[in-house]
Amino acid sequence: MAKARRTYVCQSCGSVTSKWMGQCESCGEWNSIIEETDQSLPSGLGKGSSPARGTVIDLGDLRGEETPPARMMSGMAEFDRACGGGLVPGSATLIGGDPGIGKSTILLQAMARLAGSGHRTIYISGEESTSQVRMRAKRLGLEDNPVKLGSETNLRNIIATLEHGDLPQVVVIDSIQTMFADTIESAPGTVAQVRTCAQELIRFAKRRNVAVVLVGHVTKDGQIAGPRVLEHMVDTVLYFEGDRGHQFRILRAVKNRFGGTDEIGVFEMSDMGLQEVHNPSTLFLGNHTGDVAGSAVFAGMEGSRPMLVEIQALVAPSSLGTPRRAVVGWDSGRLSMIIAVLDARCGLGLGAFDIYLNVAGGLRISEPAADMAVAAALISSLSGYSIAKNTVLFGEISLSGELRPVGQADARLKESAKLGFEQAYIPANIKHKGKDLRVVELDEIRKLVDLIAVDL
Ligand code: TYD
Ligand code: MG
Repeated sequence: MAKARRTYVCQSCGSVTSKWMGQCESCGEWNSIIEETDQSLPSGLGKGSSPARGTVIDLGDLRGEETPPARMMSGMAEFDRACGGGLVPGSATLIGGDPGIGKSTILLQAMARLAGSGHRTIYISGEESTSQVRMRAKRLGLEDNPVKLGSETNLRNIIATLEHGDLPQVVVIDSIQTMFADTIESAPGTVAQVRTCAQELIRFAKRRNVAVVLVGHVTKDGQIAGPRVLEHMVDTVLYFEGDRGHQFRILRAVKNRFGGTDEIGVFEMSDMGLQEVHNPSTLFLGNHTGDVAGSAVFAGMEGSRPMLVEIQALVAPSSLGTPRRAVVGWDSGRLSMIIAVLDARCGLGLGAFDIYLNVAGGLRISEPAADMAVAAALISSLSGYSIAKNTVLFGEISLSGELRPVGQADARLKESAKLGFEQAYIPANIKHKGKDLRVVELDEIRKLVDLIAVDL
């Protein structure tokens, strides 16, 4: 066996150093570096053994190529959609999310559906005993489905179990942080353990053509615990998002080697587990009535689906030296930018106010197309004027104060019209048919201020 080497690994970003430090040099995290013994690779790649010659083929040469194996569909349309159209045999999928968000629940439901449609599935829990998992399945009304359950944390036992029984088609490992390889000294959940266990399970997936789904808890700063490394190793990364205070959950693909990453699955947490939401476009509208100041409706897109979202802002005089800025569901850097543009181009003087911004329903928006709706909510809250009734907005704001076109205008407008909105404020120069509702085209941010609050 190779000589064990001491290394110091940051548990947050996975970077390796040769000495201990209080702060990680690469991610800046404090007290995240711990000592690990690295026994993985002998130095000098394959010394002594003669190299084997491989073959290379032409890209277009498909001789001997089998048709790709069919994806396994769970029948939960929202889950399959987020996976890019079902699980691919031989692939590794990582599902990340906060503890308690519903990862175990959705996987148990998906496995039950897969098993119900004739797939051999195994659910291995390192966090709960088999009877606890059974109890949960019973509560969800799924106990009759032929899912095999296991409760185990030792990787060697898991691989042996998987190899020597009836070979499964789908395996869930819940969670990767509880698994440990006994060849490694570090505790479960450390980068070395998580990486080794994941590597071994991914190798198993490829070797035996089994779809492996790994559950990974996310640390407070939003990375899958320690292991950013995991994201690179697996084929598909899904995040299960949502606010625990709200019942809506979103399964979002952030990486997919076998499909698109622009689709999301939308679920609602109920006492019967996660229910699919097939038509989510009105889900995040809140109780929007259209006549309160500080509220604007953003006509957004999630993948190919339009989604109307209420954006709420509160602008209040600050008694603090440094005014408060609190953002839920949007990027705080982007909010600062919009505030700066409104101040610099329209002289609103928002700098002296406390500003709170909230995306209704616990959704997280990443589209820059939300800029205009955010600006409108801020202008409306500052001025006390509400935005004209039944109006939606979308469009990006540039630093110069120009309003810039965004994609999929027609889908946004059409959905808004369908939901009873009568007017849309959008940037000029967008190509759209706009026959379903009144479209007001604006070329710069000042025009938006004038439309909402003339006297600002
Ligand atoms: P869980 O799947 O255990 O979360 P994770 O595996 O991501 O840590 O979900 C736990 C939460 O879901 C818990 O707070 C209770 C809630 N829940 C329901 O509201 N209804 C249900 O039917 C189930 C099974 C869980
Ligand atoms: Mg769990």
